[in-house]
Amino acid sequence: MSANIAEMEKRRDAAKMGGGQKRIDAQHAKGKLTARERLDVLLDEGSFEELDLYVEHDCVDFGMQDQKIPGDGVVTGSGTINGRLVYVFSQDFTVFGGSLSARHAQKICKVMDAAMKVGAPVIGLNDSGGARIQEGVASLGGYADVFQRNVLASGVVPQLSLIMGPCAGGAVYSPAMTDFIFMVKDSSYMFVTGPDVVKTVTNEVVTQEELGGAITHSSKTSVSDLALENDIEALLAARDFFDFLPSSNRDDAPERPCADPWDRPEHSLDTIIPPSANQPYDMHEVIRKTLDEGEFFELQPLHAGNILIGFGRVEGRTVGIVANQPMVLAGVLDINSSKKAARFVRFCDAFNIPIITFVDVPGFLPGTDQEHNGIIKHGAKLLFAYAEATVPKITVITRKAYGGAYDVMSSKHLRGDLNYAWPTAEIAVMGAKGAVEIIFRGQDAEGIAAKTREYEERFANPFVAASRGYIDEVIYPHSTRRRIALGLRKLRNKSLENPWKKHDNIPL
Ligand code: COA
Repeated sequence: MSANIAEMEKRRDAAKMGGGQKRIDAQHAKGKLTARERLDVLLDEGSFEELDLYVEHDCVDFGMQDQKIPGDGVVTGSGTINGRLVYVFSQDFTVFGGSLSARHAQKICKVMDAAMKVGAPVIGLNDSGGARIQEGVASLGGYADVFQRNVLASGVVPQLSLIMGPCAGGAVYSPAMTDFIFMVKDSSYMFVTGPDVVKTVTNEVVTQEELGGAITHSSKTSVSDLALENDIEALLAARDFFDFLPSSNRDDAPERPCADPWDRPEHSLDTIIPPSANQPYDMHEVIRKTLDEGEFFELQPLHAGNILIGFGRVEGRTVGIVANQPMVLAGVLDINSSKKAARFVRFCDAFNIPIITFVDVPGFLPGTDQEHNGIIKHGAKLLFAYAEATVPKITVITRKAYGGAYDVMSSKHLRGDLNYAWPTAEIAVMGAKGAVEIIFRGQDAEGIAAKTREYEERFANPFVAASRGYIDEVIYPHSTRRRIALGLRKLRNKSLENPWKKHDNIPL
């Protein structure tokens, strides 16, 4: 008996060495943790239960039959984060460069299937040279098996990808189909084809970092939601982030004890709107002053800064925040901001997270660049996402709500549950000057100025909309947190269903 146990321990210990000490040292020399060290940081201490430690590839080409490493380049299993179950896979770059073989893919599929069966999120730690070149199509089939599961899991359990090393070629499409991607600066990159192929095909010279590093994907492309400094920071951010998410679409998000009074008045909000309509203010301040303990987990902070998205809590319960940001492009809606917010709204709706929308929007961004790149189609994404969402929706218009953008930003007409406005709100088809220049074309400057004042007096307020019931109440800015907390309490049992359909046809 003791000999059997000794044999088991020997095999276990050997498997845990992955590709061996030399390759582990090389991984450390790059400033990266190993696959197992990463899981130690991500999961609660001692909670990891491994599966498939002894799985090996079955490739017999190119001498592979003589090179077998138990685990085959990916560590899989389950554990807990602050006590809640999560399924994980962590690619081991020390074993065949973390490349994906048929068996490696099978291990990932096994944890994804288990997560779906019990309704638990999946977190993937990606660090891989891509398809196992020696295996050819078997490896490509393995990717497709993972992709299919990503799609079936979408909207059922939250899926989070951390990119902590190479992720190239077909490998990018599994993370791309998960809900959120966090990347590590300087040590991770994602691209469909690398710099060498780019040079051959297009003659462009570009570094890995420029082509698909964490900053590129967090600012330009929005493929990544966050760029973190190093492995530890990324893993700790993932732990914090996980606490906002429900385990599945059948669960509520976890509730956290909250010491922040639900009715805390915030008098500084009564004076945050500047006297001139063209002066900006920081919408982050409004968001933080509304949420529990001022905690706002912002996503995509480097991309489309004219709209802010992220999670926070009210009375200990998760809410999704969408807010126009007057500090960037006056908070205008454009292609990037529409796409950014639309996907976030859909995530919240899929996972029963109430959406709080702060509105200060001067309209859609004009110009040939926007029109020719499809602002009609992309702007429609956000409109569509809000209109189909059945979760509690609370809207606060702080200042401008002009034109079609008023409709889009979770208006009453899109089944907004509670639509509040501050007394500083201006709800109109457009700004007063622009409006007057159109309807009183040809008048002299004096006439235009007079009509502008008249238009402002008539429309630059929330009361016309309120008189029609489009705004439920004009509220003191200092009472915003209290109003939202009360609203969320009332909406806790909200029940609203869209008509039966196979799925909708959101403009993509
Ligand atoms: N299939 C099989 N083995 C792979 C592999 C792959 N796709 N990618 C890397 N490896 C192996 C390497 O042979 C090497 O093995 P060794 O430790 O026994 O020498 C090990 O993984 C580490 O790779 P190495 O190239 O030394 O690491 P690096 O940090 O210098 O470069 C990559 C990393 C990912 C840029 C580089 O390995 C690479 O270009 N890989 C191929 C990527 C690709 O084209 N994939 C297929 C298309 S999806």
